[in-house]
This record gives sequence, C-alpha cells and structure tokens, in this order.
Amino acid sequence: MRFPKKFLWGGAVAANQCEGAYLEDGKLLSVPDMLLGGDVNTPRTFLPREDATAFYPSHEAVDFYHRYKEDIALLAGMGFTCFRLSINWVRIFPNGDDEEPNEAGLAFYDAVFDECAKYGIEPVVTLCHYEIPWSIVTKYGGFSNRDVVDLFLKYARTVMTRYKDKVKYWLTFNEINIPCMHLGGLSALYGLGVMEEEDINSDHRIPLTELKVDKQRVFEALHNEFVASALTVKLGHEINPDFMIGNMIAHETSYPLTPDPKDVLACLDVDNFHNNFCGDVQVRGEYPAFMWRYFRENGIDTSFITEEDRKILKEGTVDMYTFSYYMTNCVTVHEDAEKTAGNMTLGAKNPYLKASDWGWQIDPDGLRYTLNVLAGRYPDTPLMVVENGFGAFDKVEEDGSIHDQYRIDYFRGHIEAMAEALQDGVNLIGYTTWGPIDLVSAGTGQYAKRYGFIYVDRHDDGTGDFSRRKKDSYDWYKKVIASQGEDL
Ligand code: BG6
Repeated sequence: MRFPKKFLWGGAVAANQCEGAYLEDGKLLSVPDMLLGGDVNTPRTFLPREDATAFYPSHEAVDFYHRYKEDIALLAGMGFTCFRLSINWVRIFPNGDDEEPNEAGLAFYDAVFDECAKYGIEPVVTLCHYEIPWSIVTKYGGFSNRDVVDLFLKYARTVMTRYKDKVKYWLTFNEINIPCMHLGGLSALYGLGVMEEEDINSDHRIPLTELKVDKQRVFEALHNEFVASALTVKLGHEINPDFMIGNMIAHETSYPLTPDPKDVLACLDVDNFHNNFCGDVQVRGEYPAFMWRYFRENGIDTSFITEEDRKILKEGTVDMYTFSYYMTNCVTVHEDAEKTAGNMTLGAKNPYLKASDWGWQIDPDGLRYTLNVLAGRYPDTPLMVVENGFGAFDKVEEDGSIHDQYRIDYFRGHIEAMAEALQDGVNLIGYTTWGPIDLVSAGTGQYAKRYGFIYVDRHDDGTGDFSRRKKDSYDWYKKVIASQGEDL
C-alpha cells in the first residue's frame, strides 16, 4: 500500500463559505458577511454597513446550514474518513464578547458532528477560518487588541469542552500566515480582523486591495494570534490529552526563476517570510532569527514580544503542521520577468507550468517537493495537506452530467505526488481536498469558481435552487479512497 492504513481521506470547507443562514438562530455578522463578490480581474469590495440592495454571497452560501445531512451523506458516499470544517465563531458568540454562548449555535455543531459519527467520519475542526465577529473588528480593532486573545480563548474553551468526545483533530487559525503574504488588504481583515479607523467609517465601497494597514499593527495582531493559538493548544490538551491540535499555513512554495544567485536569495527571503516565519513560531515555539533581522530593518518595535509571551509560545507548540497547497510561484529580482496573471498573483510566471483560469499555476511535483522540505524542517511533526484543489468553470450538460476531467487530472497528479513523498519517508497523515461541495470562493466571492466533486446549483447572479449533483470526479475520488490511493 502506498498510503498508510490509517491515512485520513476527505475534504475541507469553511463555515462562512458554505453554511449561509447568516442571521439564523442567533448568529450575527462576521467579517466575510460584509464582503461582496468580485471576479478574476475585479477585487471584492467592502462597505462597513449592510447594503440592502447588494448581493452578499456568504449570506446564503450553499445553504449547508439546512442541508448538512444531505451533504454529509454525499461525502460519506465517497468514503470520506475525515471532514474538515470550521465552527463559525459568531454562531457561538454572536458579538464575540457575549457573557454566555449561544445554545442554538452549539446545538447545530452537535448535530453536524453526530451526523459525521454516523458514517465514521472524523471531523477536523478549524476554530477560526476568517470568521472573526464583525463587532470584534469595530469594537476592539480585531486581534491588534490583546483583549481579543481572551475572547478567543473563551470561545475555544467553550467548543473544545462541549465537543471533547466528538472531535479529536483541531486547527487554530486558518492560513495564519496570509497577512505576511499580502500586507494589508483582504488578508489583514480576513486573517486578523484589523482595519484602519478611516476604512471602518467609510461611507463608500472600498476594493479590498485598497485597504491599507499599518505594518506595526499587523505584526502586533499576528503576535496576539500566535499567543492565542499557543494558549489554545495548552488548553486543548488539558481538556482532552488525546486532542491533536495543528496550525494551518497557506504554503506558498516558491522557486528561484533563474540560477542567478540573487534570485536564489530573493526566493529564500520570500520562503522565510511567507511560510517559515509562522511555521517556526507555531512548531518550534520561537520567532526565527531571520525575523529579528526583518523587524530591525523594517523599523518594527518588537516590545510586544515579551518574555512571558515567549514562554507561552514555547509551551504551546502544535501537534501537527497542516497546510494548504494549490500552486507554486517563481521569485526573481529581474524586473522584466513575466508575472502570473490572475487573482492572488504572487510572483513570476513559470514557463514550465500551466495555470487555472484564475492564474494559479498547477504543479503536482511542487507538492512532493514541499512535503519533503517541510519534513526536513519539522522532522518530529506529522504533516497534513488540508486544502488542495482546482477552481474551475464547470459545465452542466443537457443530461445533467458534469465532465470535470481537468479536476480529476489535477487531483491525480497531486495524490501521486503525496504517494511519492510517503516513499521519501515523509510523515504525512491525511489529505482533505478543498471544497468537496462547491462553495463561495474566498478570494473572489464567486460561485463560478468551483472546486467540488459535488455541483451546487447556485450562481453569481443569485439564481439557482441549491440542488446538488455529482460530477465525474465524485466517482473517481470514491475509487481513489476505496483503493487507498492505488487506483488513480
Ligand atoms: C484558501 C482558503 O486560501 O484557499 C479558503 O483557506 C479558500 O478559504 C481557498 O477558499 C481557495 O481560494 P479561493 O479564492 O479560490 O476561494
């Protein structure tokens, strides 16, 4: 067998991208509820109040809130052994700082986890997948306010205690490193709940690419998230010593575009700043040396990293390193190099790779490479790929079938790469594809950017009846799981 017997096979979603029911059963607004959709060339926009005339994709999303039984049955039909999902913080503490948790919200996740248990599916739960309560942004300034660490811990304690016998695998913050990948903009708001006063009080719609956030504030907020994450790891182990608690990194694997040593060094810097900084803090429990240099050279006052906090980070290192992997990018100092075209463009175009319609370069070999690099850096920490997938336009044929061979090809390559990495000796414990059921794109807010094995009839103009149908990839992934990755 190329994959271990206990290997976790499944898919991953986020509450804000699939649940909908945005004001039901006591839930209030979270950050993604404030964002309108865009597309590959048009950034999502934001207005700091609800606009009754606008279409907000997350408000109904794909209605998982009402259809979770049907959806989990469909996932079970593919043989899922795990299902990654997030708890929507605002269903539990609608304002973020409520005295008591909202029982209706807690009951919803009880029902979801019970449904998973019915099929022997292990939940992998993200505590915060961008679902920062909106009132924490406006009232506290997001994670740049230290009090929010306590609010998060109260939320973590509530759900970890409630579900201690139903959930074993927990992730603290989704893609905690995105504020390093794009300083300001969407990532500071999504990841940290931080935006400037001026934008919070804006009376006009702002493209997310134009939100500006002070660097000092970003690093302070990120530090508070590190502390919140580390304290959650400690707390979780007190609640149930069997918990496996992980971090979650958006792994942006980079290659030097040319053999020019300057490109190699530039690539090293990008890799360190984008990936290794947060990974090292959460796995090794300390800020890496290159970050002290970065702080010095960028005039960041580091007095917020206190001795006491350094102890907390050391005591709250994660049990597993989990990450998303979609694409790779090239780094170069040569200004005439061609850039990748699309949303989330992070670097130079790799002439050997094809890209999706959103400009994301497809690179299965890069996954084997990434797994090996991570295993070398964190030899004692199990790895899990918790997001990987191909966003594409899908066509429904007249007979209702959907022939998504491009998606099968994408997954085949990446699963093959994981099998190779296992042969290389990498301690990889599981794999969850992104969006096994179509959902709202985080980057563009589109429904049209589809990832699922299961198609959802819902469109960017707000039409569609939310009905589900299987794509060709559904039976293919079922076969892959049934054969433990042998039959690709
Ligand atoms: C990851 C996020 O960055 O990528 C998900 O954790 C997101 O929330 C996924 O949906 C794919 O990105 P996008 O922009 O295509 O939805």
